[in-house]
Amino acid sequence: MATSIDLPEKMKALVLRSTHEPPSVETIPTPQPTVGSAIVRVLVANTISYMRDIYNGKRRYPFPTPLVTGTSFIGRVAAVGPDATKIKPGDLVVVDIMIRSRDEPTDAFLAGVIQGFTEGSAKLMRDVYRDWSYAEYCRAPLENLTLLNERRLTGAKQDGGLGYSLSQLAVSSAHMVPYGGLRDIGLQAGQTVVIAPATGAFGGAAVNVALAMGARVIAMGRSKDSLAFLKSKIPHPERVETVPITGDMMADCKELKKYGPIDAYFDIGPPEAHASTHIKSCIIALRHGARISIMGGYREDIAIPHSFIMHSNIRIYGKWMYERQDIYDLFKLVESGLLDLSVAEVTGEYPLEEWKAAWDDAAENARFGQIALIKP
Ligand SMILES: NC(=O)c1ccc[n+]([C@@H]2O[C@H](COP(=O)([O-])OP(=O)(O)OC[C@H]3O[C@@H](n4cnc5c(N)ncnc54)[C@H](OP(=O)(O)O)[C@@H]3O)[C@@H](O)[C@H]2O)c1
Repeated sequence: MATSIDLPEKMKALVLRSTHEPPSVETIPTPQPTVGSAIVRVLVANTISYMRDIYNGKRRYPFPTPLVTGTSFIGRVAAVGPDATKIKPGDLVVVDIMIRSRDEPTDAFLAGVIQGFTEGSAKLMRDVYRDWSYAEYCRAPLENLTLLNERRLTGAKQDGGLGYSLSQLAVSSAHMVPYGGLRDIGLQAGQTVVIAPATGAFGGAAVNVALAMGARVIAMGRSKDSLAFLKSKIPHPERVETVPITGDMMADCKELKKYGPIDAYFDIGPPEAHASTHIKSCIIALRHGARISIMGGYREDIAIPHSFIMHSNIRIYGKWMYERQDIYDLFKLVESGLLDLSVAEVTGEYPLEEWKAAWDDAAENARFGQIALIKP
């Protein structure tokens, strides 16, 4: 028997029927909990700067239609399947979008966004978790729910809380992604990491996470203005240097080297940056034995300086999103006060019907900490 609190029969959801036509708000049956899942009332759902290009087909992300759109979110548990042993109705949770098959975890996809790259991942999205968070209720695998310490995170400062609003907590999702990559390469406190590009939503979050991990950061970006904006908003600006990407590969490398030995390079460029000079500038600025985490969304191959990489014992790691443990441990950083989410600047909060305004806002305001939210 599932445990639940008053689930309505029907709910509103933002449904995409094809990438050739805009989505629309429809009334559909409220999902019911099953073994291994929970139903969560969606309170604040994130957007991504390139949300429009996902759903209009420009990004060429494969996914089944019709699709209830959406991305990661903060919500309150409404019902749980019979196998839930800890999470219960009423709990505040963050729900992330990386869904993995239980019998083959490499069959993975991003709920609401992309069906992944295997037959198994496509099947799992198509047949089981096709409907996501731009809806009043969302059915998610139990393991995608992370219980939040509501008292500590949202309690008043005078009561020992951190005083975050739910909207500020939503920016945690952008931080999970770079935490996955920075942990993967074993970034240590006291080390220096170059982050490029550092001026977008995920790149800026990478700077915040690296600082929380105790590292020193060299942030790169094409826009001096955006680099200055980042530095003005980041906690611990004394541990952040900025180097503009000028297009002169060797000159930029020389600038990076001014800051001493660099232990790691974290890359999170968008598809358009696949031929950017920053990739080579960053690699050849690294010390012997350094590590690289490539998390960029490049669709084309990127050129790498093979001889330098080989002779310098450089290790290159790819990372798609994060592991489960990374999410739990990221919240330990938040709860301890080391990772500051008050950097979140909510640029707008929109009902489902105003999805277009939300996605436009997300595309136009994608600098460090900025976040447009959908409140179904
Ligand atoms: N591996 C993963 O799991 C994972 C997860 C999430 C996202 N991603 C990828 O990460 C990418 C970046 O995410 P984001 O949220 O930071 O994107 P964003 O907010 O759209 O920012 C894009 C960043 O790239 C810079 N940029 C754009 N065009 C460039 C070019 N031609 N050369 C150099 N820099 C350029 C922008 O800086 P200026 O325009 O100011 O110069 C900005 O810093 C996404 O496109 C996505 O594909 C990967």
